[in-house]
Amino acid sequence: MKIQSIEFLTSVAHISQLPKRGYPEIAFAGRSNVGKSSLINCLLNRKKIAKTSSTPGKTRLINFYQINEAVYFVDLPGYGFAKVPKKERHKWKALIESYFTTSRFLRCVVIIIDSRHELSPLDRNMVEWVTLLEIPKIVVATKADKLSSSQLQRNLVQKLKQIEVFDVSEIIPFSAITRNGKRELWQAIDKTLREDSK
Ligand code: GTP
Ligand code: MG
Repeated sequence: MKIQSIEFLTSVAHISQLPKRGYPEIAFAGRSNVGKSSLINCLLNRKKIAKTSSTPGKTRLINFYQINEAVYFVDLPGYGFAKVPKKERHKWKALIESYFTTSRFLRCVVIIIDSRHELSPLDRNMVEWVTLLEIPKIVVATKADKLSSSQLQRNLVQKLKQIEVFDVSEIIPFSAITRNGKRELWQAIDKTLREDSK
């Protein structure tokens, strides 16, 4: 997609506040601090349209960004931040669940995992959840710049084995620092948008 304009649209704390205007939505999910905002900024060629932080768990709301007169990027709150109290975590789950099941425009969830670490049970749950809801998904392994290419390959193979049962056929390696994987990820996003308009 050729980006002509990007605009922060709104932050949503409750599902009743979803934007009224229906554009196809590409949502981004991942553990807190995995590099979700950095990945969105990298895709959009912006330094800080999505807020990045060194304090995990900063994004507690669903943030909508409008790309052209065409698509919404939806930054979901990160999961698995240990310091978040249980009650907050329930709220998080309820908010995402209602978004996943209510939005008529959600076309794809980009699930972001850390290329360095073992897949967490929460990552696996997210992949399973999106699969059960029959929402198309793209799995991306970020912070790839922190690994040698052989280690990266080994990790990707291992992770793919763990989520193959959920119909995942590839994991796209990505780095917000070197921008590796940006083209491949855009191709995958464009593909889901094209399939959508058929
Ligand atoms: P929350 O919204 O707080 O849950 O975090 P997030 O998932 O949006 O992560 P964010 O993009 O804020 O990045 C977290 C930290 O990881 C920051 O210090 C980033 O600079 C760093 N980071 C993100 N992506 C990459 C990457 O591809 N490579 C490296 N080396 N560091 C990265
Ligand atoms: Mg963030």
